[in-house]
Amino acid sequence: CGQEDEGFDLGKDVNVPQRLGFSQVGSESGWRLANTRSIKKAAGLREIDLTFENADGDQKKQIAHIESFIEDRVDVIAFSPVVESGWDAVLRRARDAGIPVVLTDRLIDSTDTSLYVCSIGAEFISEGNLAALYLGNTFAKAKKPATVVEILGTKDSTPTRQRSEGFAATAAKEKRLRVVGSEPGDWTKAGGEAAMRKLLRSHPDLDAVFAQNDEMGLGAVSVLEDAGMDPGQKPRIVTVDATKAGLQALVAGKLTYVVECSPEFGDDLMDVVVDLCLGGTVPRRVESEKAVFDKASAEDALPDRTY
Ligand code: AHR
Repeated sequence: CGQEDEGFDLGKDVNVPQRLGFSQVGSESGWRLANTRSIKKAAGLREIDLTFENADGDQKKQIAHIESFIEDRVDVIAFSPVVESGWDAVLRRARDAGIPVVLTDRLIDSTDTSLYVCSIGAEFISEGNLAALYLGNTFAKAKKPATVVEILGTKDSTPTRQRSEGFAATAAKEKRLRVVGSEPGDWTKAGGEAAMRKLLRSHPDLDAVFAQNDEMGLGAVSVLEDAGMDPGQKPRIVTVDATKAGLQALVAGKLTYVVECSPEFGDDLMDVVVDLCLGGTVPRRVESEKAVFDKASAEDALPDRTY
């Protein structure tokens, strides 16, 4: 399979439910829990026979899940890779068994484009761009460049790498931003707290924090408050995801700006599964929705926010 959208038809009997094996990254964040809910709900609505496995952040478990899906002869395998590398061998086995693979949320770094038929998810580079653009505009008229730190997600995962890439590229064009350090926060509140403590020790006079998800941003907020600072104001805090907790903190003035990364692509995934099984054109890439939020737009969005 190349880079083009492709026609598929596994020739499945219409009266037999399509069988999907899905391996999830884990349960590390509100975003992830919402993503799991979206996938299960969408499968239920289409009466797809879903085998759902949770890898608890462990690539070895995900490889074992994929192997058992191959053994069970599911119709389609989908997974959200914990890390980007190390998938070629197991995905070659899936391909050789004639089982199409769909990547969700995250990507793999293989150069072999025949290992999966479609990927569904957000444009993480552009999320990083948007975060830096907001901070660049905020400090455009500042007398001296703003001191900025970054709290990263898990190592070697697509969102960590690409959000950093987008943030660094746009920050480099913004003369008023000086990114002085970064620390991993593992997508969790506790990880965000630990990262913020470390960063604060080396950079006590911070102007802004870019936390790559809401949980880590909320962890940073609690450390900054304990240090007697006024998070949301100084330092400004920008996060990604736009969960209910993130938007509430934005309305409360603890966060300053939030870039949305929608976890609700369960319907897109199930549509691809049905097209693979019963015949249809499958797009090589499906991009999920995004928006940006300040305090006022977060207030508007909160009543309808489901995650
Ligand atoms: O891969 C998406 C990222 O993973 C989300 O932004 C983060 O919250 C999650 O854990």
